Formats: sequence, structure tokens, C-alpha cells
Amino acid sequence: MTRKKNIAVLGSTGSIGRSTLEVVRNLHDRFQITYLTTRGNVDLLREQIALFHPRGVVVLDEQNAAPLRAGLNGTVEVLSGTEGLEEVVTRSDVDIVLCSLVGFAGLRPTLRAVEAGKDIALANKETLVVGGEIIMRRVREQKVRLLPVDSEHSAILQCLQGEDPAAIARLILTASGGPFLRLDRTRFGAITKAQALNHPTWRMGNKITIDSATLMNKGLEVIEAHWLFGVDRDRIEVVIHPQSIIHSMVEFVDGSIKAQLGVPDMKIPIAYALTYPERPPGVSPRVDFGALREMTFFPPDLEKFRCLALAYRALETGGTAPAVLNAANEAAVELFLEERLPFTEIPALIEEALAAHAPVFHVTLEDLVRADREARDRVFQRAAAYSRMEGPHASS
Ligand SMILES: NC(=O)c1ccc[n+]([C@@H]2O[C@H](COP(=O)([O-])OP(=O)(O)OC[C@H]3O[C@@H](n4cnc5c(N)ncnc54)[C@H](OP(=O)(O)O)[C@@H]3O)[C@@H](O)[C@H]2O)c1
Repeated sequence: MTRKKNIAVLGSTGSIGRSTLEVVRNLHDRFQITYLTTRGNVDLLREQIALFHPRGVVVLDEQNAAPLRAGLNGTVEVLSGTEGLEEVVTRSDVDIVLCSLVGFAGLRPTLRAVEAGKDIALANKETLVVGGEIIMRRVREQKVRLLPVDSEHSAILQCLQGEDPAAIARLILTASGGPFLRLDRTRFGAITKAQALNHPTWRMGNKITIDSATLMNKGLEVIEAHWLFGVDRDRIEVVIHPQSIIHSMVEFVDGSIKAQLGVPDMKIPIAYALTYPERPPGVSPRVDFGALREMTFFPPDLEKFRCLALAYRALETGGTAPAVLNAANEAAVELFLEERLPFTEIPALIEEALAAHAPVFHVTLEDLVRADREARDRVFQRAAAYSRMEGPHASS
């Protein structure tokens, strides 16, 4: 019998983290959880500890970690801080790190895990958007496996099985289009937080749900696809497909196209990243083609969804530009979620941050951290000036 693989789930209390634990529970003969982590949802973490018996957990703030540690009485190790995250991913009782942290916070722990020779299942697309150059170089040097959890990139990986990468003509990423696909652009200024969080096909964490509404999510995925599959910007296209049944496609040089289909359920790409190249049975319900009736496709409107155009621009610029795009977006989305910024200011602030930035090329981790910090600060300062001019933004 083969040994069970040990998994550290970073961000286990989030949307992907919870789905990952469901997948692992159904594959308990092949995997066991050794580490779980949360930013601050200690109640859910406690439940997860009771179900999965990890060796250790990480809570971001020591303030929240201390009472948990006292309550667990030494039965489970409780670490804290970003140091805790960076520590557990290097441990010998970890084979796979599933990174489902959100945002820039995923970069350092993922890099540490790669450097420690761990295989990576990566949901945290921001890691590749910001640090794709460094991460993919270290993945090659360390000869580890980094597999995507994002459904679009999992679809592309599945389409590429048995194919020669030199035969790729185009990668075609599908996008649901989000809740504002049919809303006239002139009404974007009145979009509320509740409307933006109401995604038509996927249930996800708040940050990615807003990114899906602005189509920045698709822009981040274009950059992610560039690093994962080594395909240049001009051969990565986005097509709107509101039914979210085709998760992405690859066109080959002979004009043939392969697509991967399935119900919109993240358990499929999560399981594939863990069991690759095998497919465990019964991961998700089946597509009911009778009920589906139609699948439609059309090009994205880059004037209406400026964030997608900005992501293409940042990828074209290269160097630290995608880190600036990402940081400005994270800051602007945070402000929108706090109802301190209107929806239309998200692309405006990102565009300003990109325009103000002098990109650095052949980046180091320090370059990325600096670019991230500066772009965030800039957005927060601009937003503060904006709210002084406009007064509090009432979006609910
Ligand atoms: N959700 C999806 O369906 C989906 C699909 C494809 C890709 N992704 C990508 O997967 C990643 C996770 O998305 P999600 O929707 O699962 O997010 P989420 O629901 O917000 O979960 C994020 C997880 O990370 C923790 N966390 C957040 N900020 C942290 C920080 N600064 N330091 C340490 N831990 C932190 C959270 O803890 P708390 O619970 O305490 O907040 C939570 O456990 C994102 O990069 C997203 O783009 C998600």
C-alpha cells in the first residue's frame, strides 16, 4: 500500500480551503491533512481541527492564536504570523502545499514551499501574477510540481495532456462575465457592494467575487496562464461564456480546439491538482445537457471592463508592472468592500498606479515587495483624497 500524502492547506477557512477539505475527506485513503491555517476564523478552524486532526495550525494574529493554543493543551501545535505560515510549508511532514490564501499574502509562503521542495496546488493566482518569473524559475530549479487549482488553468492543463506545447496556437480562457455583463456602462457608478457580490454562477470569497464583477479576475488569469504555460500575451484570449460549463480551451496549430467541460464546481480542479494525472470518481455532479439547452460565446467589452485591458497592458509591460496592477487592485477592492469607494474608481485607481510606476525588470523579491507597498499606499492616499472631496460613499 502506498503512503498517504500529507497536505498543508493554507487558508483552510476560505472558500477554496473548505472545498479542499471536502475533497480530502472523500479521498481519505490517499491524503491526510497535516497543517491548516486561517487569518482569523478560529471557530471554523476549531471545527476543522476536530474533523481532520492536523499536527499543527497557523493563525495570523498571535492574539487569536494564544487562546486556541491554551484550549488545545498541546494536542495540536499552534503557530502564528506570516513566520508560522512560512515555517509549516517547509516541514518534513508536508508533501503538498495547497495554497488558497488570497492576494499577495500567498507569495512568500508559496515561494518558501517551492524552495523547500514541496509540490504545490495553487489556487492563489496572485502569487503568479506578482511573482511568476521568480516562482516558475524556482519550480524548474527545484524540480517540483506546481499545478493550478483555478478552473480555467486546470481546464487548459487537461486539454494539453498528450499534446506538444509547440503545437499550441491559442489559449482561450472563458469568463462568465459576472453580474454586470448586461448592465449599461453608464450605470456602473451606482453599483452597490451587495450587487457586486452576487455572482451568477460561482460562490467564492469576497475578493475574487469583486474581481469577477470587474473582470480583473480574468485579467489576473491571463497573466497566470502566461507563467504557467509559457504562452505569450498575444496568444491568450478571453471569451465570455455566461453558462460557465466550458472552463477553457486550447486551439492547436492545425485549427483543432480542445475544451474541458463540467459543472461549475471547484472540487473538480482541486481534486485534479491533488491526484494528477489520475481522476478520482464521483467528485462532482454531472452536466445535464438537457437542462443546459445552449452555450453562448462573445468577446469581452474592454471599454466597459477596463480592468481586463489594464491587466493585458501590465503583462505587456512586464517586470514589476503586474505587481503594481495586483496591489492597486487589492487595495481598491478592499476600499470598495468597505463601501469607501465607488465601483468605477477601481479601474481608475489601478490605471493611475500603473501610470505612476517606473517598472523594474529582472525582478527580485524585494523589488516586488517594494512595488506592492508603493502601489497600495498610493491607492489608499488617493482614496482618502477622494472621500474628502466626495464625502462618505453610500453604496448600500
Ligand atoms: N473561491 C473560488 O472559487 C476560487 C476559484 C479560483 C481561484 N480562487 C483563488 O483562490 C484564492 C482563495 O480564494 P477564496 O475565494 O477561497 O478566498 P477566501 O474565501 O477569502 O479565503 C481566503 C483564505 O485565506 C485566509 N487569509 C486571507 N488573508 C490572509 C492573510 N493576509 N494571511 C493569512 N491568511 C489569510 C482566510 O482566512 P479567514 O477565513 O480568517 O479570512 C481564508 O482562510 C484566491 O487567490 C482566489 O483568486 C478562488
